[in-house]
Amino acid sequence: MSNPRLVVVISGRGSNLLAIIHAIQAGVLKAEIVAVISNKAEAKGLELATKNGIKAHVIQDKNYPSRAAYEVDLITAIKKEAPDLVILAGYMKILGPEVVAAFKDRILNIHPSLLPDFKGLHPQRQALEAGVSEAGCTVHLVDDTLDGGPILAQAKVEVFSEDTEQELSERILIQEHRLYPKAIANYLQKLTEKEN
Ligand code: GRF
Repeated sequence: MSNPRLVVVISGRGSNLLAIIHAIQAGVLKAEIVAVISNKAEAKGLELATKNGIKAHVIQDKNYPSRAAYEVDLITAIKKEAPDLVILAGYMKILGPEVVAAFKDRILNIHPSLLPDFKGLHPQRQALEAGVSEAGCTVHLVDDTLDGGPILAQAKVEVFSEDTEQELSERILIQEHRLYPKAIANYLQKLTEKEN
C-alpha cells in the first residue's frame, strides 16, 4: 500500500514542515509530502521543501481581489495532489468555509497555545500577559471557527516569571516539532482504522 499523501500549507519559516520531513525520513511518520503550498513568495519553508526534493507552489493571496477568489485556486491546487491530509504549518491566514468543506475532517493545524486558551495572533504573548504558569501547543482539526476545531493532541511547557515572549516561543516550538509529526501519525492511524 502506498503511503498517505500530505499537502503542507505554509506562510513562513517552515520549521514545523522540517520537523515533519525529518519524521518521515526517520520512518516515524509513514507518509509522503506530495507538495508544499505557500501564500507568500518569500516563505523560507519553500526552500526547505525544494532542498528535500518536494514540489513547492506559491499562490499569493495578495494577488487576488478577495480571500474567496484566492481560495478557489488554493482548493484546485490542493485537490490536484489528491491528499489524504492537508497540514497547516505556520499558515497565517484563516481558512474560509469553502476550503474547510472541500477537505472535511482532513485539515490539521498546530497552534502555539493550550487551546481553547489564547486563540488568534501572538498566543505566547497572550499567555505571558495572562500570567499563566503553563503554556504549550495544540494540534487540532480545522473547522470554520478561529483555532476552534476538535483537539487531537497537546504538549505543555512551564512558564517562568522572567520569560520573554521569544524565550517562551522557543520553548513551545521545541514541543511543536515533537508533537506535530506524532499527532499526524496518530490521526492517519485513526482514519485507517475507520476505513477498515
Ligand atoms: C508555529 O509556532 C506554529 O504553531 C504557528 O506558527 C508558527 C510557524 O512556525 N501556527 P514555522 O513556520 O513552522 O517555523
